[in-house]
Amino acid sequence: MSGRLIVISNRIPMGDAVSGGLMVALHDALAASGGIWIGAHPEAGQADDGLEEVSTAPYQRLAFRLSEIEMHDYYLGYANSVLWPLFHRRGDLVELRPEYEAAYRRVNARLARIIRQIAGPDDLIWVHDYHFLSLAAELRAAGVQNRIGFFLHVPFPALGDLSVLTHPERFADELAQFNLVGLQTRSDVARCLEMFRADPRAEFMPDGSVKFGHRITSVRSFPIGIDTAGFAAEAEKAGPNPFGAEEPGRFILGVDRLDYSKGLPNRFKGFARYLETRTDNARACLLQIAPPSREQVPAYQEITRELEEIAGHVNGRFAELDWTPLRYIHRPIARAKLARLYRRAKACLVTSLADGMNLVAKEFVAAQNPDDPGILILSRFAGAAEDMTEALLVNPYDIEDIAKAISCALGMSHDERRRRHAACLEVVQRTDVAQWSATFLGTLTTCPYPREFSD
Ligand code: UDP
Ligand code: G6P
Repeated sequence: MSGRLIVISNRIPMGDAVSGGLMVALHDALAASGGIWIGAHPEAGQADDGLEEVSTAPYQRLAFRLSEIEMHDYYLGYANSVLWPLFHRRGDLVELRPEYEAAYRRVNARLARIIRQIAGPDDLIWVHDYHFLSLAAELRAAGVQNRIGFFLHVPFPALGDLSVLTHPERFADELAQFNLVGLQTRSDVARCLEMFRADPRAEFMPDGSVKFGHRITSVRSFPIGIDTAGFAAEAEKAGPNPFGAEEPGRFILGVDRLDYSKGLPNRFKGFARYLETRTDNARACLLQIAPPSREQVPAYQEITRELEEIAGHVNGRFAELDWTPLRYIHRPIARAKLARLYRRAKACLVTSLADGMNLVAKEFVAAQNPDDPGILILSRFAGAAEDMTEALLVNPYDIEDIAKAISCALGMSHDERRRRHAACLEVVQRTDVAQWSATFLGTLTTCPYPREFSD
């Protein structure tokens, strides 16, 4: 690669704390290759075309400011009250407002002007996630001819669901301005190609790429991963007991941003059903870490309230003087501590109703002791389930199925645990974050140069 790598995502790490699937993956990728990472400053400010340097090591991080109104209309509004629910099959939660879409377009256009000022002709531009679907279109309109790649961290929506958008026809058009569209799974690719196939403006090339007007776009899956060896090393570190004196005994772990897409109410109900139907008297505890997320959005306030209510019911019904079956922690936990928690857990519960990949699933597998591993219970609707077929796969809509999987995981023989873990670990090692970014960038670098197809 002769030019620099310029990465764009809405959220960038401001200090050392890096959490959230996208941030963790990009931090690891950029720490390895270097480059520039541009994202929104978490505090509102003057919405102009300037960038502020927030860090220079181990790579340069630059932040642009959103105004208060843009925070509301672009981030909480169009990104997280239209696109997020739509892409996670929650059309019922979509809140369409013209000012949301207008702010989204304004922010994408401003960012395109900013990038045009700093990008050299050979720089590779890598855009991330649903906040910047129209960025390539804005960059092309601003005259930027560089290779531009896009990676969507969340599920690709079904064709029918896209009709919820005010201008569904723009979606295909804007995606086609990227040279490469990367998606998490083969099913996501199938849905994306279905969208292009249904569009009379799109033509398919012999190699499967899509010709749209004068542009050619490749659509491929690049399942995202973690720094597997680094995470395993962190988990193995002796470190202090993360529980102190409050060691819960045998426990199942859940780790999720508090988001309605993560299936937390059914997870709690499935655990309660397990407690109700278990045939032995052995105690187990569900330790759920669920830090707050997007708290100003009403749907997130509602799921927080609902979850607190269910947690109260479960403990009210099953707790004893010396046993709290459900421990619910509504704050973020640092990843180093998480790594040690994963290693002590007998099982990890991932019950997403829709999820791009789910890095927690991969982190849990990487953190296990291969000689005495815990078991991953994994939703069929998480991207991770496409390749990790030896996890205990569950239907997160079926509370009985979750209860049975918990019982099965806790009673599983040593041999079966080791066999399943080895198969999952092979996937986590094969699809780690270094391989993910190298494959994506390698593919983007060999995409046909856009000028060949422009007027
Ligand atoms: N995470 C964390 N602390 C927490 C909760 C989560 O560091 O208290 C991290 C977790 O280790 C994982 C990421 O946040 O790396 C969550 O990524 P995932 O893909 O599972 O879900 P997302 O939040 O991206 O929807
Ligand atoms: C998911 C999304 C990311 C997002 C992260 C945290 O991983 O794919 O784009 O940054 O959640 O959400 P937040 O709204 O806090 O940035």
